[in-house]
Amino acid sequence: MSDNKIYIFDTTLRDGEQVPGCKLNTKEKLELAALLEELGVDIIEAGFPISSPGDFESVHEISKMIKHASVCGLTRSVNKDIEVAAAALKPAKHPRIHTGIGSSDIHIINKFNTTRENILERAASATKFARNLVGDVEFFCEDAGRANLEFLARLVETVIAAGATVVNIPDTTGYCLPSQYGAIISYLMNNVPNIDKAILSCHCHNDLGLATANSIEGVIRGARQIECTINGLGERAGNTSLEEVAMILKQHHADLGLHTSIKSKMLNPISHKVSEIMRMPVQPNKAIVGANAFSHSSGIHQDGFLKNAITYEIIDPHDVGADTSKIVLTARSGRSALAFRLHNLGFKFTRNDVDVLYDHFLIVADEKKEVMDDDLIMLANAFESEVTPQ
Ligand code: KIV
Ligand code: ZN
Repeated sequence: MSDNKIYIFDTTLRDGEQVPGCKLNTKEKLELAALLEELGVDIIEAGFPISSPGDFESVHEISKMIKHASVCGLTRSVNKDIEVAAAALKPAKHPRIHTGIGSSDIHIINKFNTTRENILERAASATKFARNLVGDVEFFCEDAGRANLEFLARLVETVIAAGATVVNIPDTTGYCLPSQYGAIISYLMNNVPNIDKAILSCHCHNDLGLATANSIEGVIRGARQIECTINGLGERAGNTSLEEVAMILKQHHADLGLHTSIKSKMLNPISHKVSEIMRMPVQPNKAIVGANAFSHSSGIHQDGFLKNAITYEIIDPHDVGADTSKIVLTARSGRSALAFRLHNLGFKFTRNDVDVLYDHFLIVADEKKEVMDDDLIMLANAFESEVTPQ
């Protein structure tokens, strides 16, 4: 096991599926689970088995099908939940139970109406109970982003002593700044005496648009697992998006020295599949998988890009399974972009011809949001018949 490997824990089928309208049936979950395994994720959180008979069935069927990845089921720190999850995971080659409880005073008082001491007892008891049923137990310290640090360290130490193999430090409400989330991970790495017996996991929500930044800061500070979803789906503003963390770690391998097992060429195809099955469109400007992620539309950018793609692209679209980069024609485009698109349509114009055509092009472009191939063909044909002697 390399110290620099970051384990990718995909929760598209659990936290992602909690999004209103994204509910999946067993067949759909199986289809996505097979793709997630092919993508190279290390752990698939397949569902919350006690929540419904349908989710139990999904976790059970996924457990039968998955060959290499760990299959995980979520539970509360309640023995019945844990028993049901263990039953659902029974056929899995690498089963993991993901149990946990609130760790911030906000949760301890308002949700559980109890004390920190009682939370430590319940956490230890649930972890031990789960470890008697499966060999791999992850414990989540819900709302760790707003928890008292000294108490959080005691909780982490307690669940590791009770047998947790992974401890999840969720920023459940997406509240932390990257420096704050990173400081929590550093504090735990330096103050939990048995920290070498488990790995820490980042589970960050995107309420302030910081989920990806926080997860990356977490692994820089010593966490070794990131919990994420395809297209960043998840409760409220979503979770850390898998495609973003996978590509950040790939693009910054030289400076961070961290890596994942994700096959990046599958990122766009799987994003489209999740969007289609979950009926949840991807915003066009979404990093890595949005429709505009490799489109260039301003004249200055297009000119540079056409001279050498590295001027405006840090990722080759083929590396993430996207179609080739696009040169979009708008009233902000320049002559080199127009010449490029005309050439692609098979027209052989001189530089002077393009200069003349460019004035006609701008008139059309000012009237439309985007000049399409049909508009260009009309412009080019009109120009050719003007200059060809009758
Ligand atoms: O956001 C959260 O805290 C969770 C836990 C159940 C892991 O989703
Ligand atoms: Zn969550």
